Formats: sequence, structure tokens, C-alpha cells
Amino acid sequence: MVTTKHIAVSNHQIILATLPDGTLEEGHFTSACGAVPVPRPGEIVVRTLIISVDAANRTWMDVETYRPRLVAGEVMAGYGLCEVVDANGTSLPEGTIVFCDAGWQEYAAVPAADATPLAVDGELTHQISVHGVSGMAAYFGITEVGAVAPGETVVVSAAAGATGHLAGQIARIRGARVVGIAGSDEKNLMLESYLGFDATVNHRSETFRADLKAACPKGIDVYFDNVGGRILETVLRRMNQNGRVVCCGSVTHYTYDPESRLAEVVPGALISRRIRMEGFIVLDWMDRWPFASQVMNGWLADGRLLPLENPYDGLDSAPRALLGLLAGENAGKTMVRLTR
Ligand SMILES: NC(=O)c1ccc[n+]([C@@H]2O[C@H](COP(=O)([O-])OP(=O)(O)OC[C@H]3O[C@@H](n4cnc5c(N)ncnc54)[C@H](OP(=O)(O)O)[C@@H]3O)[C@@H](O)[C@H]2O)c1
Repeated sequence: MVTTKHIAVSNHQIILATLPDGTLEEGHFTSACGAVPVPRPGEIVVRTLIISVDAANRTWMDVETYRPRLVAGEVMAGYGLCEVVDANGTSLPEGTIVFCDAGWQEYAAVPAADATPLAVDGELTHQISVHGVSGMAAYFGITEVGAVAPGETVVVSAAAGATGHLAGQIARIRGARVVGIAGSDEKNLMLESYLGFDATVNHRSETFRADLKAACPKGIDVYFDNVGGRILETVLRRMNQNGRVVCCGSVTHYTYDPESRLAEVVPGALISRRIRMEGFIVLDWMDRWPFASQVMNGWLADGRLLPLENPYDGLDSAPRALLGLLAGENAGKTMVRLTR
């Protein structure tokens, strides 16, 4: 149990004041002080402990995805780790740690059915990084969608990010040769020296295309794609016969990418080299998350998996955390820790 029961009288919130039309800025958010919600039947009241800041938060502002498009003037949506502070007669006792969409606020009323209780074993922050959406996407993307085999060459983009740094390490654990693509030499140095990536390439370098070719002398068997756009197009040109592209995310599509020449290789390269591109949503494997967590706990314990975390402190830092992630300032899982 993390804290004792305590419900405050006020509820600090971050509001998505206006929807962005282009680049997201801090000015799109405002800070507010609302009331602590009163639960309706079937709802619990939770206190937010750690907010997961995700690239997907930006997508939700533009289009309907697996959730409705966000509405201006409402509390910014977001998943996180919370503690139940009012069970309201449901089966989730006070003190239970749950994962739910409580939004960027201190207190929220959420349907008990939509809150996933967690058996916290180890660091609380690992529930957001390794055992959260990023870690699960890395695990199932590499093991199921990519079906990475020993000896294959695997390329991972946004390789220093929340999902990428874990995907690369899992591919190495499966015996692959792993090449990371990230946006700075500092990140790449860290990927090679600390996380054991076999090679890295900086996508901002003028010699990116040549560098990728040099880093993958035997071509590419599996590409774990977090970004889409120009990087996807460049990688597709180096893919081997029967290669697999694991479509995890498309960070570059959040802004217009004038350099993308994707149409030159899709579908041509896919056809001639029998490449399979497959998108996935990690929620599809939710029934197997406990198994994946167990496997990853083993790798954490024997030191083969090193999680990187990028924590911010205080609710007011949440907009900055999201902007930093979108600008590529982060290494590892971005999260906001709330303290009161
Ligand atoms: N399918 C699923 O179920 C699932 C689950 C989790 C996440 N995702 C998706 O996976 C992607 C990665 O998410 P994440 O949480 O792991 O984010 P993240 O990697 O922690 O952060 C995003 C990274 O993308 C890179 N980036 C930003 N703009 C870029 C650009 N224009 N070109 C190339 N790289 C750029 C930056 O790193 P650099 O410095 O290296 O450029 C940045 O650090 C997102 O699209 C997310 O929605 C999907």
C-alpha cells in the first residue's frame, strides 16, 4: 500500500484549453482547481500517483483513435497509476493500486470496471515503463508481430524512447543483432555503451542513408517502426526478402514531413521483397500482459533488461513533459510523479 486514505478538498487539474492546429505548445494548456469528484454508482475515486506521458496523447488531439478525439476545455486525458481512495462499494478496496485513464488531475472518478488493479512487485515506476504500455508494446511487437529469430538484423527507430529502448534490448535477448536509430549522438552513445545495442545511426545526420547501409551490412530482417515517414522509407530500401515491419507508432506523422518519399517504396518494395508490414495495438494482448511482465521481471532480475525512465515532478510539469517527448528530448519512459 502506498499511502493512507486522504481525500483533499480541491482537485488540481491540467485543462486542454484549446486544440492545436499544428505544433502543440504549452499555451494550449491551463492549470485549474476543480472539485474532488463524487462517484456515481459503479465508480471509484482515485488519487493519481504517476501519469504516463505518451506520444499518443498528441494523436488523441487530432483524430478519433481507440478513444474519442479530445475536446477543448476538458481535463487533459491520460493514463496513469492511481490509488483507490473511495471504493464506493465496488470490489476495489481503498489502497488498491490501479492503472486507469484518470486524466491529468489529482483526483478522478472512474468506472471500477475500467480500472486495472495491479500487483506491484518492485519499483512503482516500472509499472509505467517496463510493465506498462511501452514495455508491453516492445515485448509483443518483437516476440509476436516481428517474431524475431536469433541471428537476424533488427532495426529499431526512436530507439532511445520509452518503447524503442526496451524493444531493442528484447531483440538482443532473443539473439538478434540490433541497430538503433535515434536523433542525437548522445542518445546513440548511451544505446551502445549502456544498453548494448550493436550499432546506432543518427537520423538527423546528413549521411543517414549511407550510415544505415553501413550499420546493416547483411540488410534488415525486422524493422520495429515507431516513427513512419522518411525513416520508414529509408529502412524499407534496405529490407531483406521476407522481412517484417512491426508498425508500432508514427511519431513523424504528428507533423508534416516534407522529406518523406514513402510512396516510392510502398507498395513496390513490399511486393518485390515479400515484406510483411503489420500494425498492432498492444491492448490486443492484455490477457497475456501478466505473463510478459513475469518474463521481463526475470530479465530485470538477471540484469539483461535495463529500463530507462524520464521522470518529471509535479502536475504542472505535464505539458512540458509531453512537449519534451515530442521534441525528442527524452531518453526512456516519460512520466510525471505527483506529490501532495
Ligand atoms: N501500437 C501500440 O500499441 C503502441 C504502444 C506504445 C507506443 N506506441 C507508439 O510508439 C511510438 C513511440 O512511443 P513512445 O512512447 O515510445 O515515445 P518515445 O519514444 O518515448 O518518444 C518519441 C521519440 O520519437 C522521436 N521523434 C520525435 N519526432 C521525431 C521525428 N520527426 N522523426 C523521428 N523521430 C522522432 C524522438 O526521439 P529521437 O531523438 O530519436 O528523434 C522521441 O524521443 C508512438 O508513436 C506511440 O504512439 C504504440
